[in-house]
Formats: sequence, C-alpha cells, structure tokens
Amino acid sequence: MLEEQRMTCTALLLGGSGYIGTAFQEFFRRERISYRNLRRQEVDYTNAAKLRTVLQETKPELVINAAGYTGQFNVDDCEAHKTDCLLANTILPGIIREVCENLQQPWAHISSGCIFTGTHADGSGFTETDEPNFTFRKNNCSFYSGTKAFGEELLQNADRCYVWRLRIPFHHVDHPRNYLTKMLRYERLLDTRQSLTYLPEFVEAAWNCWQRRLPFGTYHMTNPGSITTREVVELIHRSGVCKKEFIFFASEKEFMQLAAKTPRSNCILDTGKLQRAGIAMTEVHASVTRALANWKTL
Ligand SMILES: NC(=O)c1ccc[n+]([C@@H]2O[C@H](COP(=O)([O-])OP(=O)(O)OC[C@H]3O[C@@H](n4cnc5c(N)ncnc54)[C@H](OP(=O)(O)O)[C@@H]3O)[C@@H](O)[C@H]2O)c1
Repeated sequence: MLEEQRMTCTALLLGGSGYIGTAFQEFFRRERISYRNLRRQEVDYTNAAKLRTVLQETKPELVINAAGYTGQFNVDDCEAHKTDCLLANTILPGIIREVCENLQQPWAHISSGCIFTGTHADGSGFTETDEPNFTFRKNNCSFYSGTKAFGEELLQNADRCYVWRLRIPFHHVDHPRNYLTKMLRYERLLDTRQSLTYLPEFVEAAWNCWQRRLPFGTYHMTNPGSITTREVVELIHRSGVCKKEFIFFASEKEFMQLAAKTPRSNCILDTGKLQRAGIAMTEVHASVTRALANWKTL
C-alpha cells in the first residue's frame, strides 16, 4: 500500500474515494507512486486554512482535485441538491485555487466536457479555446453543467493549474457509474453521438501531463473520435458481454418526457491539443472494444 503514512507524498488526492479518484488510486498503487487520499471526514479540505495546513505538511508534487458533486445516480439528482452541487463543483475549485496559488503549489482540477453541447456547424468537436455553450450564462443547461462551467470560470488564468476535461467515463469493470454498465442496465437508451473517456487511459494520460511537465492549462482528455449509442450496442453484442435486444427512445423529446428531469449535454470534444503534446489515447471504438473484451463483473 503506497498510500503514505509518512507526511510527504508525490500526489495528494482530494475526493480520491470517488469513482474518478479511485481510478487514480489504482494507477498510483500499480505504478508505485506515493500518494495520499484526503477525505472530508478526515480533514475538511473545503476549509482553506485546513487545506493550506495539509499542503504545507505533505508538500505534494501535484494536488489532484477529484472532488465534486455529480448526483447519486445521474445529473438529475443535482437538481434536488443544489447547495452540495454549487459547493463541490464551483466554490471548492475557487478555494483550492486561492490556497494553491498562495503556496505556488501545482495542481489539477477534474472538469467535464458537459459544459458543451453539440458540435461546431461542420461537425467538428469543441477545442479548449471554445467558449462553453451549455452553461448558466446561456440559460440552457442542467444545474450540474452550470456549476461545472462556473467552476471553470473561477479557474481562468489560474497559476500552475491543469484543467482536465473528461466525458462520460467507462471502464472494463462493472460499476454503477460506468457508462457501459449504464448501457447494460437501462431499460431504454437514447441514441446520441458522444465523446467518451476510458478511465484507466485517462488517469495514465493525466499523470503523463504532469510527468512530462506539459504547459499548465486546459486539456480535453477523451478518447479520440466519437461514437453513437447504437455503435456501442453493436460492440456490446459483438463482444458477447450481453445479447439482449436494446430498446431505444424514439427521440430526445421522448427521452426528456419519460426519463429525464434536466437537459443533457451531448457533445464531441476535439482531442488534438493532447495528441499534439505527444500523449496518445486509443481511438474510441477500439477503446470500447478493449474494455468489453476485458469485461469484469464484481
Ligand atoms: N463520473 C462522471 O461521469 C464524471 C464525468 C466528467 C467529470 N467528472 C468530474 O469528476 C469529479 C469526480 O467525480 P466522481 O464521479 O468521482 O464523483 P463521486 O464518485 O461522487 O466522488 C466525488 C468525491 O468528491 C468528494 N466531495 C467533496 N465535496 C462533496 C460534496 N459536497 N458532495 C459529495 N461529494 C463531495 C467526496 O469525497 P470525500 O467525501 O471522500 O472527501 C466524493 O468521494 C467531479 O468533479 C465530476 O464533475 C465526473
């Protein structure tokens, strides 16, 4: 176990017990990178003074903010838990920025592509320089997406800060938060075209950003390309993981009427910046195929 008992560590995780943070913990253990996972029940890291003390004691190379509020089952839950959502997705990144800048501490914030909807008019994906278009300012978003976009606004021009945007995480291990698990369990599916993120590749690519000392700033951390729900279903069938006949909503309108409380972001992100920086993630169809080939239920 490399979760350090001693004070110093290479990486300090905030919210590392969550779905995304757990993938970082697994990666750090496998790669024998020392880390500490800070939980709110141990130290209330939403309190600036307490966070500052921990950073001064542990002197991590990099702080990774994997804390956030995503809703228990999906983003619909955020509509009923707005205080938690605002605190974790908007206020907390602002607090971490202040503390880290004051200590000149490098850090990374886990953000989301859900602050975009659609594509450019020519079908290309959004780049890191595009203005988010699924936000409170555009008045078209879910509460979750609005708080994530505001969180990013608070980080504009932050010193020594990576913003890693992932999108719809999937994994080869069955889990209620895993997109592939959701596909397998939902009664009906909505056919959309999306960018996706294979979680084990994401954490490796993210850590590579730091190890290679890529310039700080925003990076789209999705598998290159895009994929439709029907294509994912076809890959599920081909893999043999599930042979059932999947049922689809007739339209997004029907999905909104029958199954959702708040609008969803369906979007494609451009991954050229990460690729040009020399960090490769697998093309999305190949990555989904690989996850399904290694499918594990717990
Ligand atoms: N899962 C996704 O689909 C997805 C997609 C794109 C981006 N992201 C982003 O990735 C980050 C982590 O998401 P996740 O899926 O790992 O979330 P998660 O499983 O719910 O874990 C988030 C962690 O955040 C901490 N936290 C801090 N303040 C909180 C609050 N007010 N309410 C609830 N938890 C709070 C908790 O850690 P402690 O209590 O242990 O400190 C919790 O374990 C979030 O910023 C999210 O927006 C997630």
